[in-house]
Order: sequence, then structure tokens, then C-alpha cells
Amino acid sequence: MSARPPAVEALTPLEAAAEVEALTDQIRRADDAYYRHDAPVMSDADYDLLRLRLQAVEARFPDLLRPDSPSLKVGARPLEKFGKVRHRVPMLSLANGFSDEDVAEFLARIRRFLNLAAEAPLALTAEPKIDGLSIAIRYEGGRMVQAATRGDGEEGEDVTQNVRTIAEVPARLSGTVPEVVEVRGEIYMSHKDLRTLNEKQNQAGDKIFANPRNAAAGSLRQLDASITAARPLRFFAYTWGEMSALPAETQIGMVQAFRRWGLPTNPEMVLCQSAEDLLAAYRAIEGRRASLGYDIDGVVYKVNDLGLQQRLGFVSRSPRWALAHKFAAEQATTVLEAIDIQVGRTGALTPVARLQPITVGGVVVANATLHNEDEIARKDVRVGDTVIVQRAGDVIPQIVGVVLEKRPAHAAPYRFPHSCPVCGSHAEREERESGKTDAVRRCTGGLICPAQRVERLKHFASRNAFDIEGLGDRIIEDFHNEGLIHSPPDIFTLEARDGGRLAAREGWGVTSAGNLFAAIAARRQIALDRFIFALGIRHVGETTARVLARAYPDAALFRDQMVAAGQGEDSEAWAELTSHDGIGAVVAEAIVQFFAEPHNVEVVNALLAEVRPVPLVARSTSSPVAGKTVVFTGALERMTREEAKAMAERLGAKVAGSVSKKTDLVVAGPGAGSKLKDAEKYGVEVIDEAAWFIRVGEA
Ligand code: IVH
Repeated sequence: MSARPPAVEALTPLEAAAEVEALTDQIRRADDAYYRHDAPVMSDADYDLLRLRLQAVEARFPDLLRPDSPSLKVGARPLEKFGKVRHRVPMLSLANGFSDEDVAEFLARIRRFLNLAAEAPLALTAEPKIDGLSIAIRYEGGRMVQAATRGDGEEGEDVTQNVRTIAEVPARLSGTVPEVVEVRGEIYMSHKDLRTLNEKQNQAGDKIFANPRNAAAGSLRQLDASITAARPLRFFAYTWGEMSALPAETQIGMVQAFRRWGLPTNPEMVLCQSAEDLLAAYRAIEGRRASLGYDIDGVVYKVNDLGLQQRLGFVSRSPRWALAHKFAAEQATTVLEAIDIQVGRTGALTPVARLQPITVGGVVVANATLHNEDEIARKDVRVGDTVIVQRAGDVIPQIVGVVLEKRPAHAAPYRFPHSCPVCGSHAEREERESGKTDAVRRCTGGLICPAQRVERLKHFASRNAFDIEGLGDRIIEDFHNEGLIHSPPDIFTLEARDGGRLAAREGWGVTSAGNLFAAIAARRQIALDRFIFALGIRHVGETTARVLARAYPDAALFRDQMVAAGQGEDSEAWAELTSHDGIGAVVAEAIVQFFAEPHNVEVVNALLAEVRPVPLVARSTSSPVAGKTVVFTGALERMTREEAKAMAERLGAKVAGSVSKKTDLVVAGPGAGSKLKDAEKYGVEVIDEAAWFIRVGEA
């Protein structure tokens, strides 16, 4: 990929024919690898380049356009579908730690949360983090009835028939078991089995798997379960979802019960009593890593006592009681061919390293992040340099350094652009209030910048926002470039403006056009938090969007209040906005700035004419404090402030920092002061900690 291809205008018909052939072949192979084998062979950006190039060549030499050209398809079709399974208990992920300090901080956080003294005993388990594919297997009356992949954590794919073919997964559990047992764990493939499988694949002229995880995923996700049956898959059980009864009160006890029932469990699991123990277990497991015979990418620590796990609960998508301590990343060296600047949704200019493709830890890497301007300068990375590329787990590969001895004589220091490569607007680094300059240089073009507009549209339609099926990144780019969609409300007027044109487009048809319109129509009703998240306000991620949606249960009210909060920091609306937990000055400022822009308010209004955001239902409607606003004040004895807040939120209450007329309940411990007075002033009910536990039924 080193030489730039000649301009399309310069191609002779013969060269063009050869190129169409080669590009078609490359795209087909990339599609196949991506969609059918879970093993991408190139980055999305490189894939896009191939498709663009093919389209350009075909446009200049229309005779070369074959009826089956990949450029006529809207992406390759994924496998015909598996059934969906909704997880009754969400399948969450683990927080990551990378250093000894991260482990110490993890333990300190737990102790703080539980108000445990430094010397109070706290036992944790340590076990390998298996690099496979997580699975939930449900047993009823001891018989396996269902197996599902993790999917997005809420909903996975039904792979029951496939999992039934795995010898290590018992069809029936032994001994006395609870009526419902949903065991969760990892499907994986051993190194030895992968080698044998690849030899067979090779002889048959079939695809070679790059690593055990791809092999396991590709083998499990086969619509024809007889293919899975022929693949040597294995299983470790390490956690659970729904259980009609728990056979033990500790993590280790649960795993022992799994083992008694005939489920395979990992023999490396140990019980630890301190940070030193955990780190010793980490180093011991790391030391055996090469001889385990299967891939692991770290060590998982879990609080052993299930009662404490329950108290600790979750922060967004991961439990507070567990940590994945990852092994150091894998590295390789390659040549940096170019530095491209990408423009994001908020105008951030991100430098991307284009590399001579290299395999790092079993995965081909052609792009890596260079983070920002200062990082490039700090490492003095220059085009032409031989660089050290590092890949850790699922994170984007990064460049960690330069091999100076290999620097070519002509390599010049990199000069970061001061204007947007897309719209040419000035790009600047903001001054923070602290006096520091922002690390990120941003295009000041706002919505006149096509890159920002497109990125905002992509964000709007993306999975965690409006989740419009079929409106993927590439289609958004096309529709935007052709002037069909300029800003989000246009998505909802697309059908009315269409007049049959979409169906007549190359590569489309009545069915695909109909499907897209149906997918758009299905989102005319949308959860309010998704609506807010989709707006793409800086600093407003999913969690903040949820906080806002709870605080302002109506979209128009939200808009009006945010506009009002822009009147100044002494306005009531600003005070209200910043009173919500998780909304500090930076976030509030970003929201207010967004609504101070008339164009943004117009977009919100136009959207509200098309879609109906639905308020969030309280998380737990059955609890007596669901939907109530609670304030904790004074000293609490049975729980820390953090724990009290988490508990109230788990029960569907909103926890506020100050008492106002909107407060429903004040829980006051000894030493409560002004908040107690405020409660009297507003006539808010006040109870003590003991009464709180009685009220919520956990006394
Ligand atoms: S416990 C609430 N234990 O790591 C989360 N997970 O990054 C419970 N994984 O999706 C997960 N080995 O697929 C746990 N020994 C282990 C694991 C493990 C691998 C995977 C699992 C999970 C991912 C989270």
C-alpha cells in the first residue's frame, strides 16, 4: 500500500480493467472476512477508500461496471439472522486496570464505598481473563434450554443449537440444582485445537483463522450447527445471570457449585486477602500465560462476598466489585507512511497514522491513533519514521515511540495544520478556565464544516442514539454529499421528498428503500434520553443524557430550560441545571452553549415536529421511593454517602445535593444543619437512617 495509485484520469482502459478486477476481488474478500468470518482484514477507512476508488474507475469506464459489482451493493449482507434473546439480567462488562496503582485504587474505592477501614479484611478472587466469547447458558430443571451470545449486553443471539454441540457444556447438570440456573462464561479454543483446525482449513482451501478468539466466534456463529459441531470449542463457567436460588454466598462458593454440577471452571482461580496477594496472583498467572494452552489477556479480580457485591452494585456498565487487570500490550514496529487528519463531530482534529500494515498480537494493523498535536510533538513522530505500534485489547492501536536509528535523512518534523482540512476554517485550541490550553485543536467552522455535519448525522443515527437500521455511515455520507440530508430533521422528511427516487437508485430497489423508510418511521417515537444524546452536545454522553432526561421529563421543557439557563449563572434555570449530580460547570456550559446557537434550537424544533420523545420510566417503579427526589444529609452510620446514593438510585429515586421545594424526602443523620432547616422551610418530610431502611424494605 506504499505507492499512491495513479489518478483515475490517467488510467488506460487496460489498466482500468485490471484495477476493477483487483479492487472487486479485494472488496469481496474484505466483505467476506468482515461479515462471514468475524475477522476484519482492513480498517473501515481503508475499505471505504477501496470502494470509492472502484466507483471512480467505474464512473470513468462505464463498460467495466459489471452487474455484480460490489459498488452496486449497500454494504455486504450479513449472515441471515439468528433469533434474538433478551437477557433477563444484562450482560455487563468489566472495568479495566493496567497498573499496580490501578489495583490499589480499585481496592481503595471499594473500601471507601463500603466504609471499610484499611485493615478490615476484604477477600477477593483472582482468575484468568479468558480471551474468547462470552455466553449465557440457561438450565431449567437441570436441563439446558437456551444459550445466547452477549450481543449488546441487553439482547444477544440465540445460539442454543450450536452450544448443544460443545462437548464441554453439559446438556444436564448433575446433583440437586436450582430450578433456574443461568450460567455465564467464556467459549474459547485452545492453541493446539486452533493449529489443527487451521491445518484442516488450509488443506481444504478454506479460511485460516488469525487467532483463537476469531476462530471461536466464527465457529459458534454458524447458522448450520453441524459446522460448529466439527469445531473444537471449549467453555469455562465464571459467573451467572438469573438464578432461582443461589447455592453459595461467595464468588468462590458459586464457582465450586458450578464445578459440582459438572460445568468446567478455571483451575487457576485463587482467593486473595490483600493488594499484595492480588498482584502476586497476577504475576503468577502471567508467568504461566504461555503454557496455559489458551489465550488470556489479563486477570480478573472479584469481591468474594456476594453480600458485598450486592452492596457495591454497578457504575454504568460494569460492577464496582470487579476489575480486569490487563496484561501489557503487544508491540511491533512498522513504517509510518502518512499522517491524516480526521475531523470529528465536535470539530476535533484527530491525527491518524497510516502505517505499512503489520501484524500485532494476531491482528493486522494499518492505522493507529496519534492522539493530538502535542503527542506528535512530544514523541517527535515524522512521516517516514519506523514507529513502535502497540495494541492492547480492543483499544485503538497507538504509536508509543520512534526508532530513531531508522529515521530517514529527509524526514521533517510534522507540522500540525492550523486550518480544517475539510472546510478550511481556522482551527484553534481553546483556553481552559484553568489557564491551560486544550490539547485538542478544533475546526471553528461549526455546521458550515461538512465533516462536522456528517459526523453529527452519523452520531444522530448511530446505535446508542436514534439507532436507525440501514442508515449506516456510508449511506449518510452519500446522502449528505448529494444534498438529500443536511441536518437530522431531514432524515424524517426523506420519504415525503423522495418520490420513488431512492428505489430507482443503483443498488437499491423497492424493498431496500421501503426498509429504510420503515426503519426511520419506527424511530418517530424515541426515548427522551436517546433523543438528548443524539443531539451530539459536547460532553453529553449517554449517562449525562439519562440524567437530563430524568430531570427534564419533556423535550420542549428541556429545550426551554436550557435556553433559560443561558440567561446567566444567577438564573434559576442555571442553578437547577447544575444541581443535578453528574452535571458540573463544564457540562452545563457546553449544554447552554449548544442552545445559545439559534441554529441548534431550530434543529431541535424541527425534530420535535417530526418525532415524539418519550419520558423515561423510573428504573424501579415498585419501590416506595421510585420517582422521588431524596436528599441525604448529616452523618450516616450504616452506609457511606456514595453507597446511600447508589442505593436510592437503584430503587428509582433521584438524589439531589440540596433541598428545594421539589425535594420529596430528606434522610438526616446526626449533625445535619442547613438542609434540615430548608426541609422545614419547604415542608419536606424528614426521616432518619433507620427509618430509611424500613421505608425501602431493607431493614
Ligand atoms: S466476569 C459483570 N470473569 O471479559 C461482568 N469475565 O470485559 C462479569 N471475561 O464480557 C464478567 N474472562 O466475556 C468475567 N474470568 C472472567 C472472564 C470474563 C473473560 C470476559 C467476559 C466479559 C468481558 C468483560
